[in-house]
Amino acid sequence: MARIVSTLAFAALAAAAPLDARTSKHTSLIKQPDGPTEYQISLGPRPYYIVQNMTEGPLKQKLESCANGPFSVTGWSIGHRGGATLQIPEASAQNQEAGARMGSGVLECDVAFTNDLQLVCRHSLCDLHTTTDILLRPELAAKCTQPFRPANATSPASALCCTSDITLSEYNSLCSKMDGSNSSARTPEAYQRGTPAWRTDLYDTCATPLSLDGFIDLVDSFPGYRNFTPELKTPPSQVPMPFKGVYTQAQYARDMVNAFIRKGIAPERVWAQSFLPADVFLWISEFPAFGNHAVYLDEEGDTPETLVTAAARLPSLKAQGVNIIAPPINYLLTYGDATNSTIVPSPYATAAKAAGLDIIAWLFERSGPLTTVDARQDYYYSTFSQAVSHDGQLYEVLDIMANEIGIVGMFSDWSATTTYFANCFGLQGPYGENYN
Ligand SMILES: *[C@@H]1O[C@H](CO)[C@@H](O)[C@H](O)[C@H]1NC(C)=O
Ligand SMILES: *[C@@H]1O[C@H](CO)[C@@H](O)[C@H](O)[C@H]1NC(C)=O
Ligand SMILES: *[C@@H]1O[C@H](CO)[C@@H](O)[C@H](O)[C@H]1NC(C)=O
Ligand SMILES: *[C@@H]1O[C@H](CO)[C@@H](O)[C@H](O)[C@H]1NC(C)=O
Repeated sequence: MARIVSTLAFAALAAAAPLDARTSKHTSLIKQPDGPTEYQISLGPRPYYIVQNMTEGPLKQKLESCANGPFSVTGWSIGHRGGATLQIPEASAQNQEAGARMGSGVLECDVAFTNDLQLVCRHSLCDLHTTTDILLRPELAAKCTQPFRPANATSPASALCCTSDITLSEYNSLCSKMDGSNSSARTPEAYQRGTPAWRTDLYDTCATPLSLDGFIDLVDSFPGYRNFTPELKTPPSQVPMPFKGVYTQAQYARDMVNAFIRKGIAPERVWAQSFLPADVFLWISEFPAFGNHAVYLDEEGDTPETLVTAAARLPSLKAQGVNIIAPPINYLLTYGDATNSTIVPSPYATAAKAAGLDIIAWLFERSGPLTTVDARQDYYYSTFSQAVSHDGQLYEVLDIMANEIGIVGMFSDWSATTTYFANCFGLQGPYGENYN
């Protein structure tokens, strides 16, 4: 589905993209704005801050050469929970708007279900007590699986509020807020706080929650060609499946895909994800046009021992029809020498490529300043944290994943950072037609 672009705009795009965009059938390829009144991609200061902090060398020179764009939407830049989660309440309409503006070509909705079995965008079925103001709504707070308990001398403050505790219309009445809580809180009001200092409460002003249907309509309305990546959640033990004795994980998996079918969204634009192999296998067998590029999220390798097992399992996933694997960054990178000063692709990354799997990685821009990831034992840097010490290395890390491993997409909490890099290297992301 080629997009029509003006000659002038095309020349600019071709200059930014060494890939032959003209012959590409990539559906994420976005036409440049035709004039100053058209929607423009806007990246803000952060990519420039990162480039400035890089040590001198060819990578810095290359990234500096792209400073003036042009920047267009790219499917390589995947908006995690909307793509602006670093600063804007996750999964909200405002977050999706910002991720889209920062050039994300694929936007994410984690799919949870409500008490009346409607699908909504929420990272966990049971995180409403930290991602919304539900505890400040007495009539809704009373419906929580575990209502608020204040901190006392022996126990921290706690609560557990699930999307399955309330109806869709109740869910829609909530404010989305920055994810966080205060375990010392003695009141629901005090419990609302807890945003890490390197995020911000600046936009924590009652963001709009989204249903899955609302997400699809919103993303489809953004200028430029955008794809969707819905993630089916695995309900926690407090929400045993089948829910109410009847609603099975399999039906939930079907309902998620059917929401896109009902809206007439082409399967090639939908990157269905799950941590549960059974969900992915269901899509492969029942919805092959979606299943052939469904994304299996791998979290089976969190220790050095299990990472070896997880890598060994990859060929069998491929043999069962999985084409895309999505591990966290720390599975893909490791130390390159005994002094822990260099970073190289891990044996897991090599095994995934050897198995013929495409790789989408998560999660960029989640971890705050790189100066402190080693001291904080940040998860995403855990396998190479001693080799990173300053923010300029964000692009060194991305370069190894993009240009040495060849990942086909990167989830990010701040889409501008990934969009800048992808535009500079002509990375357009995967396209669904290629998996047919
Ligand atoms: C990058 O930032 C660190 C502080 O985080 C600083 O020590 C270092 O000099 C900076 N490097 C460059 C090239 O600006
Ligand atoms: C402290 O809180 C815990 C958990 O909410 C509760 O079980 C316990 O009874 C409380 N202790 C006192 C002294 O109130
Ligand atoms: C957390 O709550 C405690 C008790 O109300 C309070 O002393 C503390 O300042 C709060 N921390 C934040 C970050 O709001
Ligand atoms: C390198 O990192 C590994 C794993 O974190 C650690 O066990 C080892 O002591 C480090 N080596 C040096 C020389 O710092």
